[in-house]
Amino acid sequence: MVNIGVVGYGYWGPNLVRNFAELGGATVACVADQSEKQLDLVRRRYPAIRTTSNIQDLLSDASIDAVAVATPVSTHFDIGMAALEADKHLWLEKPMTETSAQARALVAEAERRQRVLFVDHTFVYTGAVRKMGEVIKGGALGRVYYYDSTRVNLGLFQRDVNVISDLAVHDFSILDYLLGEHPVAVSASGINHFPGTPENLAYVTLFYDSGTIAHVNVSWLAPVKVRQILIGGSKKMITYDDLEPSEKVKIYDKGVDFTDDPEKIYEMRVGYRTGDMLAPKLDGTEALRRGGQHFVDCIQTGAVPETNGHLGLRVVELIEAATRSMQEKGKTVDIHHQEKRS
Ligand SMILES: NC(=O)c1ccc[n+]([C@@H]2O[C@H](COP(=O)([O-])OP(=O)(O)OC[C@H]3O[C@@H](n4cnc5c(N)ncnc54)[C@H](O)[C@@H]3O)[C@@H](O)[C@H]2O)c1
Repeated sequence: MVNIGVVGYGYWGPNLVRNFAELGGATVACVADQSEKQLDLVRRRYPAIRTTSNIQDLLSDASIDAVAVATPVSTHFDIGMAALEADKHLWLEKPMTETSAQARALVAEAERRQRVLFVDHTFVYTGAVRKMGEVIKGGALGRVYYYDSTRVNLGLFQRDVNVISDLAVHDFSILDYLLGEHPVAVSASGINHFPGTPENLAYVTLFYDSGTIAHVNVSWLAPVKVRQILIGGSKKMITYDDLEPSEKVKIYDKGVDFTDDPEKIYEMRVGYRTGDMLAPKLDGTEALRRGGQHFVDCIQTGAVPETNGHLGLRVVELIEAATRSMQEKGKTVDIHHQEKRS
């Protein structure tokens, strides 16, 4: 049994507690939160789980093997480092930290202590993203020309992070998983419509050496919720609508063929292909359940999580670069990524 302590029981923490509590091979031993009101909710729902407002109680408990942190991003580094120093395995919510320097320090500390460091980039564990990965990595899409995402809704306005850190973070991890390639440059424009608050709307463009281009439109100021991704390849194209109850992913046998044949110079040089559409069956397992089980398995076997600290760090680097570009009105920022992909 892996004994888990959860820190932070606000909006997301309850999802972690529910999933860990229902996993075979794990128990939630303790929940820590600064708010007595939140702890009261834990006690009513899970009478067997201990609660504390002092995180030290959880860290000094030798029976706790792992700590899962679902507090605001600004607290991730301090709590995460304290957990590693107490020799706990660590689950950090996305984004991993506020700065890449902090992320790098956590990766180094986890490796030094041989602790599992899992970053909860939840989308990577969805049936939809796994299926798209299968299609792209298996070559059925051909060369990936573009990735175009719209992730907008009304709120929730965050006080400590901008909309790139809150919403584009999901696309950054999905892109990393699907393409297996890190962008070389980013250009972002964005705005805060309310002085003194973080940017609430942003358009981010990522450039890749392979020629793929990705565009991510994120906003907390849209009248409707949209979660749509289009991926265009040289052989096929994908649409992914996360709000569809079923058939979230559709694969279209559509595309264009160009010819350079000088004989055909006077003919139309582009041919359009339109074939069938396939809506593949997706694994409906809750992403957090799959991620939670993977975390526990990694602790038990010593394996490295798919969404490990290196991925977390790459994503934080992208958030930093995109935010810098946004603050310089869209100036292209080069990304010099030194970390290994593992
Ligand atoms: N993976 C996902 O899809 C997903 C979705 C939503 C939120 N998140 C992430 O989860 C984290 C928490 O977000 P949220 O929306 O639940 O925030 P929240 O503000 O609703 O909840 C945070 C909780 O942490 C507690 N807290 C704050 N500082 C603390 C400290 N130092 N010690 C103990 N408790 C403390 C607060 O009292 C609160 O109950 C963020 O990193 C966020 O990005 C991830």
